[in-house]
Formats: sequence, C-alpha cells, structure tokens
Amino acid sequence: MSKPTAAKSGTFEIGGDIQVNRLGFGAMRITGPGIWGEPKDRAEAIRTLKRLPDLDVNFIDTADSYGPDISEELIREALHPYGDILVATKGGLTRTGPDRWSPVGRPEYLIQQAHKSLRSLGLEQIGLWQLHRIDSKTPRDEQFDAVKSLLDDGIIRHAGLSEVSVADIEAASKVFKVATVQNRYNLVDRTSEDVLDYCEKHNIGFIPWYPLAAGDLAKPNSLLDKIAKKHGVGPSQVALAWVLKRSPVMLPIPGTSKIAHLEENVAAAGITLSDEDFAALDREGKAQFKG
Ligand SMILES: NC(=O)c1ccc[n+]([C@@H]2O[C@H](COP(=O)([O-])OP(=O)(O)OC[C@H]3O[C@@H](n4cnc5c(N)ncnc54)[C@H](OP(=O)(O)O)[C@@H]3O)[C@@H](O)[C@H]2O)c1
Repeated sequence: MSKPTAAKSGTFEIGGDIQVNRLGFGAMRITGPGIWGEPKDRAEAIRTLKRLPDLDVNFIDTADSYGPDISEELIREALHPYGDILVATKGGLTRTGPDRWSPVGRPEYLIQQAHKSLRSLGLEQIGLWQLHRIDSKTPRDEQFDAVKSLLDDGIIRHAGLSEVSVADIEAASKVFKVATVQNRYNLVDRTSEDVLDYCEKHNIGFIPWYPLAAGDLAKPNSLLDKIAKKHGVGPSQVALAWVLKRSPVMLPIPGTSKIAHLEENVAAAGITLSDEDFAALDREGKAQFKG
C-alpha cells in the first residue's frame, strides 16, 4: 500500500501567500487530560509530530492555551526550524484548570500572548495567528484593533478568528484582512454552514474543528458504514473525506496523540467519494443535525 500523503487533499493559499496542503493537524490532543499539562505518553506525542513531514502535513494548528504552553513547546522540540510547515497558533483563551477555558480579550493581554507564542515557537513571525474567542467582556473592536497592531508590527503575518458568526467576520474585516475562520463543523454538526459559505465566497480558509465526528451515522450497516466498507476504510476516514470534498477552502485539522491514528487520518485524503455518495451523506448528516 502506498504511503498516506496529505498532498492528495489539494492545496490552499492562506492569506493568499502561504501554501499548505489542505489536510492539516490539530495539536490540542498532544497535551494531558482536559488539555492540561504534559501528555500521558510524551515520547509518542513527539514521534507523532515528527511523522508529520513524512506524510506531507505542512499545516499545524495549536494555541497558547493548549496545556497551556505544552503544545507549542512540544511542536518546537519536535519540528523546529519547521521547513515548509506553517505552525498556526491562537490566543485569547485562559486556563484555570483541566477542561476550563475563559476568554480574555483585553488588547494588552492578546498582544502579550502573541509575543509569548512567537518566543515559545522560536519564530521570527507567526504565519497565522487566530483570535481564539471574541471576549464579550471587552468591546469587539478593541480586540480587532489589537490584532491589527500585531499585523502592523510584523509579529504575525496573517490573522484569523475562531467560533464566530458572519456578522463577526464582516465587523473584523473592516479592521484587518481575515485570512481564516475556525469553527466547529463536521458531517453531523452543520451549525456553521452559513459561515462556511461566506468563507468560500471570500476565499477565507475555513478550519473545521472536531472534523472526525459522525455521530450515529457511523453505526454498523449505516450508509456511512457501507460507503466505508466499499472503500476498505473506517467510517471516520469517510467523514473526513466528506468534509474535504465539501469546499475547496476547507482545511480540516484532525487531532491525535498517536502515530497510527495520524496515518489513518492522512490516508483519508486519498479517498475519492463519488458525487452520489457525497450527496447521500450530506442528506443524512443534515437530517441527523436537525435531530
Ligand atoms: N478553535 C477552537 O475553539 C477549537 C476547539 C477544539 C479543537 N480545536 C482544534 O481542532 C483540532 C481537532 O479538534 P478535536 O481534537 O476536538 O477533534 P477531532 O480531531 O475530530 O477528534 C480528536 C479525537 O479523536 C481521536 N482520534 C483522532 N484520530 C483518530 C482515529 N484515526 N481513530 C480513532 N480516534 C481518533 C483522538 O484521540 P487519540 O489521541 O486517541 O487519537 C481525539 O480524542 C484540535 O486538535 C485543535 O487544534 C479548536
């Protein structure tokens, strides 16, 4: 069997000038339980990261809050000086314990965190930095102005948003060029369908998180299961292939701390779904989403 390669997912130019293979890697899962502290198996986490270039994965998503700091530190240890890999990071969420996430959008905090990520990752400029959440306790425009100042100062090259509405993207776009949007999206969670359509229309990279989910569609003898068997793969690989086919601006970042799972996920880039199977899965996913 040929080696899995993310190159089969096609490419996208982030911000119009950083080309990546569309199938990336989410580095949230290389931390401890509750996305807190060191991973249980640190050596395997490092091995998983080191495997990325062999599989042509050149887009990694992380955040200062994963660990916190642990994910960025492990990425640096395993992959610095990165070659053609774009390490995209995020700021704006604080951590007070396992599974606890609190937005802080004060401009001085956002700017501090971007500087810290720059240093942790050992970069001269962060290719893509995303506002992890818009903090409702701080005026939205103050947060956008902070992002603009990071761009103007050259600390970051491109900027994105996470968990936002179309109205948020339009408001931010008045202050800086929005290169990417990162919202939860998968076969059975279609909450952000309008945001995805907006991103496609404006050539903004759409980064779906939790892209592997297929809910009840993955049950034995389901349509998804039958399509997976036809291709000789697993249901989550077909769910990922479906996400990739959904839009040319789609940049999924499945996350894992295990090499075997990474290889399975990257192999999904090589699955070509027929238009009929894609449409049938689309209908079932939408039906399940509506409940
Ligand atoms: N912007 C945001 O607010 C936000 C929120 C959440 C996540 N994210 C980003 O999105 C990335 C992906 O999201 P996610 O981690 O929630 O969802 P995901 O990648 O769809 O799922 C990850 C889970 O699936 C397991 N898994 C991965 N590959 C597998 C495989 N081939 N077979 C079986 N299990 C597998 C992982 O455990 P194992 O380690 O055991 O493989 C992990 O528990 C994160 O890493 C992070 O970078 C962003």
